[in-house]
Amino acid sequence: MADPKKLFIKTYGCQMNVYDSERMAEAMAPEGYETTEVMEDADLVLLNTCHIREKAGEKLYSDLGRMRSLKVARPEMKIGVAGCIAQAEGAEVMRRMPIVDLVVGPQAYHRLPELARGAGRKVDTDFPTEAKFDLLPERQGRRGPTAFLTVQEGCDKFCAFCVVPYTRGAEMSRPVEGVLAEARGLVERGVREISLLGQNVNAYHGQSDGADVGLAQLIGALAKIDGLERIRYMTSHPNDMEDALIAAHGDQPKLMPYLHLPVQSGSDRILKAMNRKHTAESYLRLIERFRAARPDILVSSDFIVGFPGETDADFEATLALIREVGYGAAYSFKYSPRPGTPAAEKPELPAEVTDARLHALQALITQQQRAAQDAMVGRQTTVLYEKPGRMPGQMVGKSEHLMAVHVAHEGASVGDLVQVRITAASTNSLAAVPLG
Ligand code: 5AD
Ligand code: SF4
Repeated sequence: MADPKKLFIKTYGCQMNVYDSERMAEAMAPEGYETTEVMEDADLVLLNTCHIREKAGEKLYSDLGRMRSLKVARPEMKIGVAGCIAQAEGAEVMRRMPIVDLVVGPQAYHRLPELARGAGRKVDTDFPTEAKFDLLPERQGRRGPTAFLTVQEGCDKFCAFCVVPYTRGAEMSRPVEGVLAEARGLVERGVREISLLGQNVNAYHGQSDGADVGLAQLIGALAKIDGLERIRYMTSHPNDMEDALIAAHGDQPKLMPYLHLPVQSGSDRILKAMNRKHTAESYLRLIERFRAARPDILVSSDFIVGFPGETDADFEATLALIREVGYGAAYSFKYSPRPGTPAAEKPELPAEVTDARLHALQALITQQQRAAQDAMVGRQTTVLYEKPGRMPGQMVGKSEHLMAVHVAHEGASVGDLVQVRITAASTNSLAAVPLG
């Protein structure tokens, strides 16, 4: 048999890209490709890119720049660009970077083997009519205890700052049977926790025998899989939230008490300019309803600071919203104008204003995150062990609230789901002892 060919994938950006990279590796396995951690050894290098902020694009071009000498040394090495930059500006990537052999958009990954096989430079960024997920090979290999599973792709919301509706296309939900079959396959391979992914995951409405199934019902069906112990989902949009999903946090024990619900800003004026179609007040009421269903739910969010036109008063409204919610975690970003989006036409704020606001917002979030971590001390929770810790006999995993936990647990294994008591907290991790 011929030696296996080597595939190196670098993933930029979000969890959906992490999932896509796994699926691309699996699509290339029947072609004789094994993954490698060493780019220099690879026969095919795939860069799975992100277009959400300008920095992500700069990284791609600087990485490609550095790869020039590699391509000179090994001209037979193929270099492919996948992901959202491929979709948004594939032709431009080809023009600027002659070392790139192929460009493949997120909706065309099932055609990657064919693209890689052929000679010459190629671009495939079509939005196909066939179902990509049905055409990708089944999940393979032994796996760790946690996995991502994309159930929904695309976005119809057109927030004024965001490229996702252009790079990932319109909202689409995978059929229920395909999701369940993939989940069963993952559980057979050792997975005990699945995070359902989608740009607007709570807009999920899949078909099952002609019937419409929402995200809460899908979670209910997944919860029936023996051996699947934990279910999470992200990212949600406030306007797609359904009563059944809120209720599921009260009655579905396998659904973890964590809600990632981006608000972006606490100012109604800015929310309007962002085309978010919700208000600070409607968001706060939504959080209240989640807390009524599951009082200890940990809430996280995304924030953008320095959106065009944001005044000190607007920013203060964001801080006020943060104080009112009390977040357990959050991601915050400086506004980055993206080509083709409506907000990119508007004048930007001075960089020092945006910098100062980001700094202030992050200080407040860190304070809240620390308070949430401290509040865990003395409490019991379960931890799913993901890897051995640095200390002998130590295991590291995630709590129900997605906090990293270090547990002194001689003889335990990766994949164990263990009841623990939290003994100490820092901003980013907890220490615990096993019970019983
Ligand atoms: N600039 C800064 N942040 C952005 N996001 C999306 N588009 C932009 C942009 N142009 C952030 C939003 C979104 C997260 C995934 O990325 O907060 O929720
Ligand atoms: Fe982008 Fe808004 Fe869609 Fe989220 S909801 S992907 S921020 S357009």
